Amino acid sequence: MTARLLGTLLTVLFLGLFGILEATKISCRNEDGEAVDWFTFYKLPKRQDEASRETGLEYLYLDSTTRSWSRSKQLMNATKSVLGRTLQQLYEASASENNSTAYLIYNDGVPKSVNYNRKYGHSKVPEEGYDYPPTGRRNGQAGICITFKYNQYEAIDSQLLVYNPNIYSCSIPVTFHMELIHMPQLCAGSSSSEIPGRHLTTLQSAQGQKFLHFAKSDSFLDDIFAAWIAQQLKTHLLTETWQRKRQELPSNCSLPHHVYNIKAIKISRHSYFSSYQDHAKWCISHKGTKNHWTCIGDLNRSPYQAFRSGGFICTQNQQIYRAFQGLVLYYENCN
Ligand SMILES: *[C@@H]1O[C@H](CO)[C@@H](O)[C@H](O)[C@H]1NC(C)=O
Ligand SMILES: *[C@@H]1O[C@H](CO)[C@@H](O)[C@H](O)[C@H]1NC(C)=O
Ligand SMILES: *[C@@H]1O[C@H](CO)[C@@H](O)[C@H](O)[C@H]1NC(C)=O
Ligand SMILES: *[C@@H]1O[C@H](CO)[C@@H](O)[C@H](O)[C@H]1NC(C)=O
Repeated sequence: MTARLLGTLLTVLFLGLFGILEATKISCRNEDGEAVDWFTFYKLPKRQDEASRETGLEYLYLDSTTRSWSRSKQLMNATKSVLGRTLQQLYEASASENNSTAYLIYNDGVPKSVNYNRKYGHSKVPEEGYDYPPTGRRNGQAGICITFKYNQYEAIDSQLLVYNPNIYSCSIPVTFHMELIHMPQLCAGSSSSEIPGRHLTTLQSAQGQKFLHFAKSDSFLDDIFAAWIAQQLKTHLLTETWQRKRQELPSNCSLPHHVYNIKAIKISRHSYFSSYQDHAKWCISHKGTKNHWTCIGDLNRSPYQAFRSGGFICTQNQQIYRAFQGLVLYYENCN
């Protein structure tokens, strides 16, 4: 398989603003450049029929101030898209070399390089300025941005160690070294810490929204959904991850809390796409269960991804749950 294809297949954007540490100014931003506590987006796939005028750059958008999905005004490749607006702060911080700002960017396949490693947790951000790769158009992609105060970064620091991130650009000024142990080491490429198989932590956004973060290393060799997340959250899960033919794990009802593969997504009454066209990675509680969780992350339900590090950030926010629940067209039952 070519490097280019692999790059396409595994693109996922998982932005927790990990590592941008100046609490007061740096924030997730909407398309107008205004600070928001969190946002989530769903970039729609470019379907292959001739009649379609889709560019593969349109996205659905939801944030802490809106009630339900809306269509983006901007295309994902624009610097005024939510990713462009949010990441602009990183490029500014990087340019000013201000010692009160820290950042860290990681990627399993560094932008524009053909080298690419399956071992690492994956997330993609170009280093020189905002850009959206042509390979990211064809399939669906989803992500979440959360604004955290600095007091959450000790916990984030520990989670990041488990991810074994392939960091290609970072700056963690000495001011931060008292509280953050792993980030400076990871940044210097010299971490000697023992990596736990998995780790769970609670996080709180700047405005108090609660999240639960699941991080697994490449030594936790199991299906993160069935073996861990569903049982931990005590909920049956519907999972939407990339379904590659002959590489999918079937829906799984062996353990007390089941996992069902979503097979198709509906964007509106007349518009839908198959999970084969979707590189988004998320799951929600089954409608019938009491706990309404939504998780967004960077691992597929595939036997091959048991060997990868990565994770999911989960919340019981009802607005996020209803938005993702509304996208489910149908899922596969257990045999
Ligand atoms: C984004 O993509 C659209 C559609 O392909 C193209 O017309 C536009 O020039 C691109 N914008 C940027 C900033 O690359
Ligand atoms: C660094 O950032 C701080 C806080 O935003 C600001 O007060 C200061 O002027 C900046 N220094 C430089 C050299 O840009
Ligand atoms: C940060 O930069 C300012 C301005 O350049 C300098 O005065 C200060 O000593 C620096 N602080 C640290 C901890 O390096
Ligand atoms: C369901 O998942 C668990 C945990 O990964 C695994 O042990 C079990 O074999 C799976 N069941 C089936 C039928 O695949």
